Amino acid sequence: MKAVVYTKYGSPDVLQFKEVEKPVPKANEILIKIIATSVNRTDCGFRNPEYFIVRLVGGLFKPKRKILGSELAGEVEAIGKNVKTFKPGDSVFGLSTLNFGAHAEYICIPEEKSITTKPTNIPHHEAAAVCDGGFLALTNIKKINFTHKPNILINGASGSIGSASVQFAKYFGATVTAVCRTKDFELLKSLGADEVIDYTKEDFTENGQHYDVVIDAVGKSSFFCCRNILKPKGIYFSTELGYLSQNIFLALLTPLFGGKKVLFPIPKDTKEDIVFIKELMEKGKYKAVIDRVYQFEQIIEATRYVETGQKVGNVVITVNMN
Ligand SMILES: NC(=O)c1ccc[n+]([C@@H]2O[C@H](COP(=O)([O-])OP(=O)(O)OC[C@H]3O[C@@H](n4cnc5c(N)ncnc54)[C@H](OP(=O)(O)O)[C@@H]3O)[C@@H](O)[C@H]2O)c1
Repeated sequence: MKAVVYTKYGSPDVLQFKEVEKPVPKANEILIKIIATSVNRTDCGFRNPEYFIVRLVGGLFKPKRKILGSELAGEVEAIGKNVKTFKPGDSVFGLSTLNFGAHAEYICIPEEKSITTKPTNIPHHEAAAVCDGGFLALTNIKKINFTHKPNILINGASGSIGSASVQFAKYFGATVTAVCRTKDFELLKSLGADEVIDYTKEDFTENGQHYDVVIDAVGKSSFFCCRNILKPKGIYFSTELGYLSQNIFLALLTPLFGGKKVLFPIPKDTKEDIVFIKELMEKGKYKAVIDRVYQFEQIIEATRYVETGQKVGNVVITVNMN
């Protein structure tokens, strides 16, 4: 089968198209013919690690896993002998986070992992764009108490994690302020944002508003910048470690004092997350935000675009379209 392989860390130039062996499902695995995948910031982070912790997980000097791609939609082609919940021909979507492998024509995934049947009303290229940003957003959203309709500010709301965070926060009943550029105001309002702020025109830390929660979905601010806009027991989340990995230390220390705090939950995807996303999509309460769709052969160009940090939502790659 055709796959995009990398054997060393570096720029998008390290990605190469190669013929590799088609995987064979183990007893508990399903073999999926991939119809669509995405290029996301997780792929980029594991191709050219910025943080040492990524090398600890992905390989100290060179990548342990040679094929990137952490989300996908496709069709089950074969199943292992113990598989009970899928059958050949099922349309499925989901994640392959730690093993990656979705930048290829086929992938094997254990049936108990983050994969489920695709909603019939959602095309494959949309289903391939909802899980990575979705589960990363849920990692933070699940830590918020929505009982009293919190006021939540989401910075980087136009990104993959940001646009998912807006939709989940709104679904659970929050009042949402989305920080993005004016060009994306209509999109963010259509996803449920009550207020929108253009970060190039207004400093959201200086406008006198106060929030129960600030989610910095692009990691461009800091707890110290946002402390003054948090209510007395307000919570700050970031998707980045921050300067000198401060968010890790702040997440250990600030909860001890009972006031404003940083939470930095470690992302871990589950099948429940994917099933939850599926149910919201079926209800029309969660949708894919897609910036560009590239063909498989254009994946290096797609990667370069993702690395500009300017995509709106997600970048999809179509693989086996016949
Ligand atoms: N914690 C984890 O495990 C994990 C996993 C994956 C990714 N990440 C990190 O999470 C972050 C977000 O990932 P993502 O895929 O959601 O990002 P993304 O989709 O690449 O985000 C891009 C969006 O962010 C907006 N943006 C850029 N600078 C901004 C600023 N200063 N203020 C407000 N918005 C800004 C851009 O809008 P404009 O072009 O209009 O500026 C663009 O629409 C990245 O930093 C990534 O490294 C963390």
